[in-house]
Amino acid sequence: MKQSKEKYTQIIEPSLKLARMRKSNNITINHFFMDPKYLNLGAGKYYMIKTYGCQGNLADSEKLAGILENMGFTKTDNELKADFVLFNTCAIRENAEDRVYGELGRFSKFKKRKNDMLIGLCGCMPQEEKTIANLKERFPQVDIIFGTHNITSLPAYLYDALKEGKKIINVLSVEGDLFEDVPVVRDHSKKAWVNIMYGCDEFCTYCIVPYTRGKERSRRPEDIIKEVEDLANNGYVEVTLLGQNVNAYGKDFIDIKYTFADLLKALHLTAIKRIRYTTSHPRDLDDATIEAMALGGNIMPHLHLPVQSGSNEVLKRMNRKYTKEEYLDKINKLKKAIPDISFTTDIIVAFPGETEEQFQETLALVNEVGYDGAFTFIYSPREGTPASKYPNDLTLEMKHERLNRLNEVVNANALRGHQKYENQIVEVLVDGFSKSNQNILTGYTKHNMLVNFENNTNQQCQIGDLVNVKVTKAYSWHLFGEVINSN
Ligand code: SAH
Ligand code: SF4
Ligand code: F3S
Repeated sequence: MKQSKEKYTQIIEPSLKLARMRKSNNITINHFFMDPKYLNLGAGKYYMIKTYGCQGNLADSEKLAGILENMGFTKTDNELKADFVLFNTCAIRENAEDRVYGELGRFSKFKKRKNDMLIGLCGCMPQEEKTIANLKERFPQVDIIFGTHNITSLPAYLYDALKEGKKIINVLSVEGDLFEDVPVVRDHSKKAWVNIMYGCDEFCTYCIVPYTRGKERSRRPEDIIKEVEDLANNGYVEVTLLGQNVNAYGKDFIDIKYTFADLLKALHLTAIKRIRYTTSHPRDLDDATIEAMALGGNIMPHLHLPVQSGSNEVLKRMNRKYTKEEYLDKINKLKKAIPDISFTTDIIVAFPGETEEQFQETLALVNEVGYDGAFTFIYSPREGTPASKYPNDLTLEMKHERLNRLNEVVNANALRGHQKYENQIVEVLVDGFSKSNQNILTGYTKHNMLVNFENNTNQQCQIGDLVNVKVTKAYSWHLFGEVINSN
């Protein structure tokens, strides 16, 4: 049975139309405040958040969890027990969206059995107009729909839904707002995400993110440094600084001059033992950042530097604003400054108009850089982006064939990169225990390589410990090893 549109209380400012009208540089910093009337709304109720997409979404989900727990909700992993199920969605490729629709179908059935269950949907998908139309048409069971700029209003939406039986759609395209002091429940006790900026101004022609996340807004350095210091004081070992293009950090400040390199240098002096960051845009990665990385110590010798394609023609059509030569020049500078640096990347195959020769340039570039890993994707047209209108005559078979060929080259390079560590001793941050075998632990090296390892020593290994592991075998996607006594 379909519910009528009128049942929704709805505010929509579609981002796709507004994103091009960005003008103001005024960042408003808001401080989160929980109205006392929301504090006990969740008492005795269970919540579950299902997160899709990038680290930005993982970090947002930790804040959503923080807000919900402040309201008295308790987390559950049991789907049937949840009173509020929230889907924090991703719009980057069609398959990311399809997975969410599949899950919504399943939960709509649960809701028939447990009709006081509330379903919410937030994140990047509702920032697209077509999602709202789709949800209203196919999934009227969804009670609360809100966008990436409305996270801190969740208590008000739940209040309206629980107390007044309202259904809510609230998707804004706010430009220039930041929230500090949002409560957070972190998934990991030793590793933390730290947002340093939000949004993206790059407008790569294939990408939906600038529309779903709004313009670049940097957090103040003092707020970030304090957050990292507090994390270190609370026993956290590793932070990953997050932004869609971290190298643009600080460009939006109008009162101070403060860059990403300045931030790295400041964080280098804190007590946190490991600092990572993602994602870098090759064009904006400057010499000062390379210098800061070369300080070493707690700044990890790994860089995720998405290249997308090895063809200058394709890079131009993607609006990436660098050439293959400029990219390689930066890679070489980095290799010189940090000799043991490890690189990973993102690559899109079958971008509209990509010829076989252009694709082969990508394969050649992968071999030249020698990446230790890569995320590889078939181009997925995103409505409203310029590339979605470019003609693409590649068949599905050709797209998959290119992806497979690329993956073979990526895996061969990754294996070579990992093999360099065979018989070496590496420092591993213990992350957890293998689900199938408690004697096998997992963790990451400084170079961000996943290690599964055995502990046959009498040394106790706890999550968050930094332990020395001898690598006994290398694979394309991980290393295998054993703990060696640290004394
Ligand atoms: N801001 C980051 C990450 C963006 S999304 C960056 O600029 O690197 C992560 C990756 O998804 C991108 O690097 C790109 O490789 C891929 N991607 C983005 N849009 C895509 C699309 N329309 N089709 C296929 N892959 C896409
Ligand atoms: Fe998308 Fe490009 Fe921005 Fe990355 S830099 S989020 S790929 S527009
Ligand atoms: Fe996806 Fe949005 Fe991140 S589209 S990749 S969740 S910014």
